[in-house]
Amino acid sequence: MIATILSIFSLFSSAMAAARERSFIMIKPDGVQRGLVGEIIKRFEQKGFKLVGLKFVWPTEDLLKKHYADLSDKPFFPALVKYMASGPVVPMVWEGLNVVKTGRVMLGATNPADSAPGTIRGDLCIQMGRNICHGSDSVESAKKEINLWFTEKEVVGWAPANDCWVYED
Ligand code: RTP
Ligand code: MG
Repeated sequence: MIATILSIFSLFSSAMAAARERSFIMIKPDGVQRGLVGEIIKRFEQKGFKLVGLKFVWPTEDLLKKHYADLSDKPFFPALVKYMASGPVVPMVWEGLNVVKTGRVMLGATNPADSAPGTIRGDLCIQMGRNICHGSDSVESAKKEINLWFTEKEVVGWAPANDCWVYED
């Protein structure tokens, strides 16, 4: 009996934890310059994900080097940092069930030439070095990136009134 209750509780809490998964999504300088901020936010909002953090900042090269540290030995790294530091960006935190994986699907392939129509990159950009939006590639990277760009207080938990129309339970 106790085991059944515990397993129901654990199923329920793992579903809740999944619903609370967070991803770091950032509109890059070209997305801002091209007036695509509203369009990109709209896609995540209309999907049903919940916005829990958002800011408008002109990032330093130091911050961007930390953000893309895993790519620091790639030949394109200096150009990537220069591109990302060329203007203001919109870092965001989005929350929801499998938001990391689904967010990547919504973005499309890294190279817009390979991004499917209907995806953000597939619909709105042409070249890899101007691919308008970043998305975390794993739950672990998302945690690191959120901690790098946001303080704890800047990420705001809240309960949308329409949650029961987005999730079954
Ligand atoms: P992001 O981190 O920006 O969401 O992009 P991603 O995961 O799809 O791709 P990633 O491998 O993390 O690369 C980060 C960004 O670097 C630029 N890039 N250029 N010239 C190249 O071969 C090359 N490869 C990657 C892209 O702007 C890519 O989004
Ligand atoms: Mg990446």
